[in-house]
Amino acid sequence: MAEGMTAREQATPGDFADATLAELGRQRIAWSSGNMPVLESIAKRFATEMPLAGVTIAACLHITTETANLLRTLKAGGAEVIACASNPLSTQDDVAASLVLDEGIETYAVRGEDSGRYYAHIDAALDRHPTITMDDGCDLVSRLHQVRPAQVGEVIAGTEETTTGVIRLRAMERDGALGYPIIAVNDADTKHMFDNRYGTGQSTLDGIIRSTNVLFAGSRVVVAGYGYCGKGVASRARGLGAIVTVTEINPLRALEAVMDGFRVAPMAVAAQDGEIFITVTGDRDVLRAEHFAVMPDGAIVANSGHFDVEIDLVALAKLADGRRRQVRPNVEEFAIPAAGGTKRVLVIAEGRLVNLGGAEGHPAAVMDMSFANQSLTVEWVLQHRAELEPRVYDVPAEIDEEIARLKLASMGIEVDVLTEAQRLYLSSWTSGT
Ligand code: ADE
Repeated sequence: MAEGMTAREQATPGDFADATLAELGRQRIAWSSGNMPVLESIAKRFATEMPLAGVTIAACLHITTETANLLRTLKAGGAEVIACASNPLSTQDDVAASLVLDEGIETYAVRGEDSGRYYAHIDAALDRHPTITMDDGCDLVSRLHQVRPAQVGEVIAGTEETTTGVIRLRAMERDGALGYPIIAVNDADTKHMFDNRYGTGQSTLDGIIRSTNVLFAGSRVVVAGYGYCGKGVASRARGLGAIVTVTEINPLRALEAVMDGFRVAPMAVAAQDGEIFITVTGDRDVLRAEHFAVMPDGAIVANSGHFDVEIDLVALAKLADGRRRQVRPNVEEFAIPAAGGTKRVLVIAEGRLVNLGGAEGHPAAVMDMSFANQSLTVEWVLQHRAELEPRVYDVPAEIDEEIARLKLASMGIEVDVLTEAQRLYLSSWTSGT
């Protein structure tokens, strides 16, 4: 036995921060399980049918209580599961400890890990020769294809959780670089319409509020990007009484934001009077030197896009020229030149995903649907592996509908069914005016 390690710690390999946090993690995982009834019902079925027996799943996901319940479900279905962090700042250390020590799930994740350790964790998962990859942002799949091409052929299929990852995968597909089929779980209706909109909407504000205790009522909030995530953030900020401006590059989305009642303006204009800036575009350099230069003193800037590229922190650091300091946990102040002296720009969670860096990520009730999609999609790819090619696929509509049905049932909500006359009417083209 390695010196200083208990038998429990030795039993399952992994890299996590602190074994003493495992009990807290166990309690919090159980708490979120109470809000994941759809996943729970899948786990129960999986435990009797064992549809994932014989597969090894490498899951590169945010290591949260909700993810823990997904991993338990996959394990209940008979899979060998190895987990690693999909973001250096999103790991809940208590969860990582409990996964290894209570659940016996090999987990490699430490909150605040540097880039070297982050990729070492992905490599540790790949060392186990997965036959299924489950990714959130495409770092696992990208690493596998670029660094271990000989292993690509061992993989049956993969799933991808987020918009940014799907964009990268489609680029791989276009370049002929994708080596096996991947299902875009993000694109399922029961994922992005709820997780991206209501999950990101609520948890982004949660992250900013926990980090700063700022009052949204009456604040001028600028939301960059009006995809599902941006829509959620803008509507929740308005719900708290903020005066919201949306910035966009897509004319249709900009029009939608206008007709949803938001002010729409270019960032160069919005930056002049915004007080809280939230980027959710999926692209880089959304907030740049020219924007920092015109922001009011004390502007708060946060990112809720997948990667930490949306706020140009290199440019901000250059403007600050060394005048930067931590002013609260999770809040760094940059003092930059302004008329008559300096002004402050406050960056939350290092410009990384603020909902996971500053809070707990999306609530379990929405992750329930996202992770039900993950579980049922893995089961589906194993049943259909012979028909699948190295392409990006949508989640089958039957899975989406089944999850919506199960979620409604768990909420005690019933819906109408078509009468026979209605069904015939919808399938006919002869009756009109
Ligand atoms: N992505 C956003 N919120 C999440 C959560 N709570 N768990 C896992 N992935 C997430």
